[in-house]
Amino acid sequence: MRKMDQFFDIVYPFATENVKDSLGNFDFKNQSVLTVGSSLDQAFHSLFCGAEEVVVYDINTHVKEYYECKKKMLLEAKNRQEFYEKIKGFTQYTSIPIYQKLDGKYRTFSSNIYLESEEAFEKMKEILQKHSLEFQTGSIYKMNMEKTFDRIIFSNILTYLWLVTSKENKKEFFKRNFDKWEKMLNKDGILELCYLYHFERQDLLIDEHKTFIYNLRTIYKTLGVSNLDIFFIPGFFDETDGVLTYTKK
Ligand SMILES: C[S@@+](CC[C@H](N)C(=O)[O-])C[C@H]1O[C@@H](n2cnc3c(N)ncnc32)[C@H](O)[C@@H]1O
Repeated sequence: MRKMDQFFDIVYPFATENVKDSLGNFDFKNQSVLTVGSSLDQAFHSLFCGAEEVVVYDINTHVKEYYECKKKMLLEAKNRQEFYEKIKGFTQYTSIPIYQKLDGKYRTFSSNIYLESEEAFEKMKEILQKHSLEFQTGSIYKMNMEKTFDRIIFSNILTYLWLVTSKENKKEFFKRNFDKWEKMLNKDGILELCYLYHFERQDLLIDEHKTFIYNLRTIYKTLGVSNLDIFFIPGFFDETDGVLTYTKK
């Protein structure tokens, strides 16, 4: 089995998700946030929307270094286009592409709240000059934190469950870890359990998807909790994407 930290040793220049709409339903004002995401777009979104404290927790050891670079490029860029070109130049040797829409509009611009207008871009600069992020390296399956949060964002990590556990004990492994993550949430806290690419209403009925986390009926049964929700958003790759969340009551 390929080791997790080797699998995720390249930073994502920009998120490959519709961050703006997937996180758009959560209130971030004065909230404490823990998020994965080496692109830092989930963290930037949280800060942009008023989060008080943001901890970036990611298995990739280069995230803090990438943050210094991305922040510098953002602060130095005259506008969004220039920022995008700088990042593109910086990442030309990585294997992760940055996506552009066929109509010529940058996908990255419409899927990130801080890039949706020049005004937003300027606001992000001001925020990054005033606020800092905290960084921790580690796997979400080996977290050992006393601290609790109002928002926890796991991006689409759970689609890679096959990397860390065998087919047989997926349910058990998932439930054990969920119980641990649940304890890290404050009351009324929200956990973005998984960003589901290409997931629509009709997929709710499918229970034989090869990716474990897409089998939502199994997930409901395995976790045995209420307050699991799914909502649908315009997909990053043009189809519909889903967002699976848990709210602690
Ligand atoms: C699953 S990847 C995919 C990219 C994602 N769709 C995005 O747009 O940000 C998301 C992030 O999760 C991190 N990651 C993957 N597995 C992890 C784990 N077990 N614990 C912590 N971070 C992890 C990766 O390093 C990467 O930064």
